[in-house]
Amino acid sequence: MTLLLSGSDLSQLLDVTSCLNAIRDGFTAVSSGIEAQRVSTALPGPGSATALIPGLVEGIPAYTVKVNAKFPASRPALRGVVCLHDIASGELLALLDSATVTAWRTGLAAAIGTDAMAGSAAGTVAVIGAGTQAGLVLRGLKALRLVDRLVVCDVDPARGSSFAAVHAGGRTAVIAADAREAARDADIVIVATWSRVPLLDDGDMGPGAHVTALGADEPGKTELSAALLRSARVIVDDTRLAVTSGALGTAGLSAGDAAGTLADVLRGTVPGRTSDSEITIYAPVGLPWQDLALAWTAYQQALRAGIGRHFDFLA
Ligand SMILES: NC(=O)c1ccc[n+]([C@@H]2O[C@H](COP(=O)([O-])OP(=O)(O)OC[C@H]3O[C@@H](n4cnc5c(N)ncnc54)[C@H](O)[C@@H]3O)[C@@H](O)[C@H]2O)c1
Repeated sequence: MTLLLSGSDLSQLLDVTSCLNAIRDGFTAVSSGIEAQRVSTALPGPGSATALIPGLVEGIPAYTVKVNAKFPASRPALRGVVCLHDIASGELLALLDSATVTAWRTGLAAAIGTDAMAGSAAGTVAVIGAGTQAGLVLRGLKALRLVDRLVVCDVDPARGSSFAAVHAGGRTAVIAADAREAARDADIVIVATWSRVPLLDDGDMGPGAHVTALGADEPGKTELSAALLRSARVIVDDTRLAVTSGALGTAGLSAGDAAGTLADVLRGTVPGRTSDSEITIYAPVGLPWQDLALAWTAYQQALRAGIGRHFDFLA
């Protein structure tokens, strides 16, 4: 039997602390030696694409295959299913809503990267692109450190205002007119847009700021200029994918322009920051095992809580 887990099932089941732990464990797990793979094809609409992503990680007796649709003008913009299979038999254990799994795994992995690289007292956060992924980054970040000031910028003012109202946490969030204004006085900048032109350049942030940029996850998508990436300490999640599909390749940079990966930083083999004044950047493309870590956590919690519907695909 396969357990069907909808978005609302997952929202009931997932909690930030368990998921942060699952994602952190994945980053520090012994490497399976299997290269992260994703197959992605552009579709006819503006910015539309489909991605097929198989996930495997040491320590979890299952694997995932995520089938995602990326349609920037739709709500949610990312949707599809995550298939969770038993590693020994291939049995289809669960089918999960990928909009929720993707947002949680992307947001919480980004929160871990941000917290590991930002200065210890950094509390003013600017969000550029007030959408689904940024919302989960902020939820994760608030579980890891004090966020005492929020600045929000979105090309859609209504989205920016409603994001600010949900995430300001009783304080007043500032709405910025554009990305540069949002970033100017921020300690931490979260960028999660569909942009294909750089939104931030060298000199747009003050000394010591940290930027986590999520939007450059397909060739041609870009949020940070080559000059900014060159001048900063850049950490990625996968060096090869950062060049073939991510921020480095689209900016014309190479693997040598990254100081290391977030796994290196979390294992303590590469520092996330080397001085209080340097600009640091975390630019992930998203790792396949993160879908598995999230799906497995949700599946275990669903079995315990008796949530979800059983369906027999082989009937
Ligand atoms: N790196 C990763 O691990 C990873 C994982 C999942 C999604 N993503 C990417 O993150 C991005 C955001 O995804 P989402 O699901 O949050 O989308 P979303 O549509 O929910 O949110 C994006 C927001 O950005 C705003 N926006 C677009 N262009 C902007 C600009 N130039 N300036 C300011 N705001 C702008 C939109 O109005 C929207 O509110 C996408 O590019 C997606 O492909 C990355």
